[in-house]
Amino acid sequence: MLSKTKISKIELASYICNASGPSDSILEELEIIAKSDSSAIMMKSCTIKPRIGNPEPRYVHLPLGSIQSMGLPNLGYQKYIRFASQLKKYNKPIIASVAGLSIEDYRVMVEAFQKSEVNLIEVNLSCPNVEGKSQVAYDFEQTEKVLRVISNLGDIPLGLKLPAYFDFIHQKQMAQLILKYNISFITCINSVGNTLFIDPEKEMPVIKPKKGFGGLCGDYIKPIALANVRAFYELLDDKVSIFGVGGIKSGLDAFEFLIAGADAVQVATVFEKEGESCFTRINQELEEILKRKNYNSIQEAKGRLKHL
Ligand SMILES: Cc1cc2nc3c(=O)[nH]c(=O)nc-3n(C[C@H](O)[C@H](O)[C@H](O)COP(=O)(O)O)c2cc1C
Repeated sequence: MLSKTKISKIELASYICNASGPSDSILEELEIIAKSDSSAIMMKSCTIKPRIGNPEPRYVHLPLGSIQSMGLPNLGYQKYIRFASQLKKYNKPIIASVAGLSIEDYRVMVEAFQKSEVNLIEVNLSCPNVEGKSQVAYDFEQTEKVLRVISNLGDIPLGLKLPAYFDFIHQKQMAQLILKYNISFITCINSVGNTLFIDPEKEMPVIKPKKGFGGLCGDYIKPIALANVRAFYELLDDKVSIFGVGGIKSGLDAFEFLIAGADAVQVATVFEKEGESCFTRINQELEEILKRKNYNSIQEAKGRLKHL
């Protein structure tokens, strides 16, 4: 495989894996991912206690992506620690995703996953869909408080799932925190929070929670995701691995993230729409592009974006 890569010290057999969210909440779903061409088994963001999430409809396919306000439905972190042991036999990196509702929640869950079979821990600081809770990573003081308690709890590489930033100053502030607390990887970006999609016939929003305000995913957000990957690639100087996510549905999309500076990419909406065959297809498409452009490895092409 030309497209084998690494996130921190963890080797991935290809450039593409699933993103936290779609079809990764229960063991049966995670086993489908384990047997697919996804290069890792990313699990659903978990909270301390199980959650049923927001009222339906809470996910809707859109012509160019999706809008969702799931509200973190999950089985509680202890189940995902058990799932990691059960998934070990597939010999594929396993990634936990933790979403605390308080600083103490983050500490408890990161500490527990540090003693588990997972290979990477992604700390979700950017869920836009829990009513009454803001996205942690939009508040730099709060983010620093979280990083202070989670960054020294073990040797399993720790990453941050970040929201979209729209201002270089914000990316700079976040990059300083990432370097200060020795974070191993970042994942850019979560769905773009609190957007509104309207059905003009019904004169209503298309999803129910939060009066229709939800996270936008898919093609709509690709340029925003690419900009965040590129900005952090430049700010972090290759000291921190980058997962790109947002609007990837083809090998060409993945290639754009690669030259922007992503070490690997994740896919959410396309997996929800197409099923696990998307990993095989996107991988093949990317391999063909790399061959056509005479790149011999991911490393060779990474960050090679030229300027006009
Ligand atoms: C149904 C659904 C559920 C999601 N749940 C989570 C989640 O639990 N944790 C998380 O970090 N991101 C979650 N996301 C965001 C995705 O991981 C991803 O960042 C976003 O959808 C952009 O990727 P895409 O354009 O490939 O969909 C979810 C997305 C979707 C569509």
